[in-house]
Amino acid sequence: MNRKLRMGMVGGGSDAFIGAVHRLAAFMDNQIELVCGCFSVDPEISKASGKSYFLPENRVYTTYQEMFEQEARLPEGERMDFVTIVTPNFVHFAPAMMALENGFHVVIDKPITFTLDEALTLQSKLQETGLTLALTHTYSGYPAVKEAKERVARGELGEIKRIYVEYPQGWLASKLEDTGNKQASWRTDPKRSGKAGCMGDIGTHAHHLAEYISGLKVTELCAELNVFVPGRLLDDDGAALLRFDNGARGVLMATQIAAGEENALKIRMYGDKGGLEWNQHEPNTLWMKWADRPTEMVRVGTGQMGAVSQHNTRTPGGHPEGYLEAFANIYRNFSLTVRAKMNNEQPTAAMLDFPGIEDGVRGMRFIDTVVEAGYSDTVKWVKFEE
Ligand SMILES: NC(=O)c1ccc[n+]([C@@H]2O[C@H](COP(=O)([O-])OP(=O)(O)OC[C@H]3O[C@@H](n4cnc5c(N)ncnc54)[C@H](O)[C@@H]3O)[C@@H](O)[C@H]2O)c1
Repeated sequence: MNRKLRMGMVGGGSDAFIGAVHRLAAFMDNQIELVCGCFSVDPEISKASGKSYFLPENRVYTTYQEMFEQEARLPEGERMDFVTIVTPNFVHFAPAMMALENGFHVVIDKPITFTLDEALTLQSKLQETGLTLALTHTYSGYPAVKEAKERVARGELGEIKRIYVEYPQGWLASKLEDTGNKQASWRTDPKRSGKAGCMGDIGTHAHHLAEYISGLKVTELCAELNVFVPGRLLDDDGAALLRFDNGARGVLMATQIAAGEENALKIRMYGDKGGLEWNQHEPNTLWMKWADRPTEMVRVGTGQMGAVSQHNTRTPGGHPEGYLEAFANIYRNFSLTVRAKMNNEQPTAAMLDFPGIEDGVRGMRFIDTVVEAGYSDTVKWVKFEE
């Protein structure tokens, strides 16, 4: 196969936030082109958006149902190869299922679905079809995060005993949903967001990052969820104590009411030989801390990074890579995997390094568990059921 992969989109019109980031990320490595979409719940916005993306009128659809039906009828040489789904959480499952039923691979944003059952149904459908799904847990795309994962796997820190992951934002410190802000409006509505607010929106990123870097799995947690802004229907703040499958203990904190904070995701992890620290606001630096020698600063784009990190780095040291490149790493690895499968080749481990359905299911288990534990003064530990 000697061509770009053809991408369709559900959501991501001029009325949306993250869709534009997905397109930048998808196009960064020249592997993917946008060929069609149903870009908005509002057909006029979908049409106008498609026009502004220079798509032919007949590939801009009014509904996603129409898009999957029409695209599946096009000749193989024309139709899209995969769809990116960037709608509010309650519009994830139906388009994802329809995509898989019509033979299209899927990129989808987190949380993967509205309920755990839907995520499990998607998992079965993926097994049945052999198609590929990427879940955009952006932060696992950073080269320094990948370096951290490799170093932990090599045992540099010894046995992991303690993990702290914190994700404070401040943008929902006031009742932004009452001002007409679309992103705040659906995120704080249980009918469109799901059973969790802040924990579903950013707690799932923190949980994923902790499991991704450590290679460990949370087995149970104890939590408190809070609704600080009066009249809000879902958590806007919370914290959880985590127990991991090797006996390690963790603390996860996620809040959207920390006024003044931007996107201050930070993780620290400690074993018996040393620890590490990574901050999203300084993503090209990984701090390594040692029991028996001074702290080391490891920088992306220098000879200090291993092969996996280098595979996910585009520029030499000192030329900062950030959010868009991390997002693009998910798209690149996904597209390399899909391309290899189309060529009947086995994707390499480096190609397969992107979050997928298992991470999506774990994210939904995290939401269920943290909500069950989070409002009870009597339930202490709640298990992640498998
Ligand atoms: N990975 C990340 O870091 C990250 C960041 C932001 C958002 N997200 C996730 O991305 C998703 C979208 O978030 P957002 O902030 O861009 O939301 P948004 O409200 O800005 O955009 C949603 C888009 O979906 C469209 N839409 C809604 N229903 C539709 C339908 N039936 N058919 C076609 N289009 C439809 C809307 O018109 C809009 O264009 C959410 O699941 C969110 O959790 C992930």
